[in-house]
Amino acid sequence: MSTAPLIALDQILFVLVAGLWGAAGGFALAAARQPGDAGAVRRTSLAAAALCAAAIVMTGLRVLVTILLAQVGWWFVAEKVTLALPLVVLPGLATGVVSLPRLLRGAPSALAAFPPLVAAYGAVAGIACGVIVSYPVTVSDTVAVLTLFTGASAITWRILWRGRAVNLWQVAGVTVLLIAFVWAVTAGWSGGHLHDGHGTSAAGTPVDRLIGPKGEDARRFTLTAKAATVRLPSGQSLDAWSFNGQVPGPVLRVRQGDLVEVTLRNELADQGVTIHWHGYDVPSGEDGVPGVTQDAVRPGGSHTYRFRADDAGTYWYHSHQNSSVAVARGLFGLLVVDPAGASATPPAGDHTVALHTFGGRVTTSLDGAAPTDLLATSSHRPGTPVRLRVVNTDTLPRTVGLAGVPFTVAAVDGGDVPGATELTGRRIRLAAGGRYDLAFTMPDGPVLLSADGRPSLLVDGGGTPATAQPPPASGPPLDITTYGSRAPVPGRADRRITWVLDRTLAMVDGVPKLGYTVNGKAWPHIPTPVVREGETIRITVVNRSGDTHPMHPHGHHVQVLSRNGVPANGLRMDTFDVEPGEVWEVVLVADNPGLWMSHCHDLAHAVQGMEFHLAYENITTPFDVGGPAENHPA
Ligand code: C2O
Ligand code: CU
Repeated sequence: MSTAPLIALDQILFVLVAGLWGAAGGFALAAARQPGDAGAVRRTSLAAAALCAAAIVMTGLRVLVTILLAQVGWWFVAEKVTLALPLVVLPGLATGVVSLPRLLRGAPSALAAFPPLVAAYGAVAGIACGVIVSYPVTVSDTVAVLTLFTGASAITWRILWRGRAVNLWQVAGVTVLLIAFVWAVTAGWSGGHLHDGHGTSAAGTPVDRLIGPKGEDARRFTLTAKAATVRLPSGQSLDAWSFNGQVPGPVLRVRQGDLVEVTLRNELADQGVTIHWHGYDVPSGEDGVPGVTQDAVRPGGSHTYRFRADDAGTYWYHSHQNSSVAVARGLFGLLVVDPAGASATPPAGDHTVALHTFGGRVTTSLDGAAPTDLLATSSHRPGTPVRLRVVNTDTLPRTVGLAGVPFTVAAVDGGDVPGATELTGRRIRLAAGGRYDLAFTMPDGPVLLSADGRPSLLVDGGGTPATAQPPPASGPPLDITTYGSRAPVPGRADRRITWVLDRTLAMVDGVPKLGYTVNGKAWPHIPTPVVREGETIRITVVNRSGDTHPMHPHGHHVQVLSRNGVPANGLRMDTFDVEPGEVWEVVLVADNPGLWMSHCHDLAHAVQGMEFHLAYENITTPFDVGGPAENHPA
């Protein structure tokens, strides 16, 4: 059984176990309190015994599921083994020893009712545990759960044995529990700030001095953010935010080695803007993250970005101010860097394909043209080399398929795939924010690119009748982490970092709510790892939640070492899709000093907490979240 269904089963058992113990405790209590009629007492007592037995069996099942999950990794069970399970297993055992014999004999009592009631509290505390506690288990989380459990058990004890006068000890006990609970809850939710340890006051290099070179011969672009309307061919019309009045923004196409200079102007009415170069490892000061590398550009303002295009490949750019809203509304475009020595005009078969949801429909933008929610088309003579640079600019993964021709995944996240082998009819999951270059030689018949089984782009030899379209590819999905040949990876690890992704109660934007957390905290309270230039950092990413998290570290690429324990091909990625229950091991070489954002590129998750930093020693920032520029990266 794989991990995700086990996690789901465990959650169902949580509720079942709590319900059974509640019923068992309730019947045992009713039997103990029942006046008169010996027959009725006996019947209630036997019912209580049956419920206790069922609860014990279900609790055993929970223990079994936990043992199975533990084999996947301690991250998945730490709080269950140390906290949630003991709170129900121990009173469950007491029920077996103390309550069951008495109830079966038809001799109920307060003593027989107490253990199943406590087990019920333990089971409920276990549910609370699932909401409050993540990995790692903290002292404050433990105290919060234990005070609730102890308080309920103590009150029950007192009621069962009808203690008369309230004595000083009891008052003191309740007071201590209350104080501990309030402390635990407040301490658990807040915590450090993202700039701690490399903050605004520390001596060092300010991040806005880590900038790209200026040059007379730079390739210059101006991107002006302004309101626009997206009109879909099927009829919908949507208010959007655009660069230069185009949605998506213009495709920026440069050659490897070029100096690039992009001036951003903001003509939006009431919305700050920045430009982040997604997947492009620019100097940190050019990274476009408000509150970290710059202030958001307010309406009427401007900002210039400079970098040298050192790496060829397919990338994209987007605003990082209120990015969960801004990207969805259209503030993005594609960046293509042709290899040094490539011809000035891209070859005829070279296309960009941006997949983006507008008006609830997955649209296709071919070569930067207006998006269509119908089928986009392109024609090439048979024998033409074709490269489709597919970019997922959405917040959800897309399963892309190519039918009608054998093809290779020539590049992933901008980098060429070594030893890319030919595939036929296969589908490949593309992470939100990720890119695949699909390459093939134009055959005699038509080729169909599909997203989630829906036709997106038809490439034909000119004049193919619609009926000749191949059906969308439906072959088995390809595991990109084992595709191609194995690339060399750094053998050593100077530092190890673990990101445990979860959905738990956390402080999100100053409000306690169910957020998307990393190591139990939400932005900006997730502790920032501080690394040194030149270090090799091994990162273990564990997804304890029921959602997919496309993880995107800025300024670096990672190489994938393993996925769910299966050795990977060392693929270079900047956005990798960690599915529920998965464990990825990746390695990152700290070769780009700065302050870097890392986050889930499901931007709806980022805005609810799944956003954090990677900092280099001695790099500081004069910027902070909020403030007059209202910096808000997610
Ligand atoms: Cu496209 Cu911070 O990301
Ligand atoms: Cu996510």
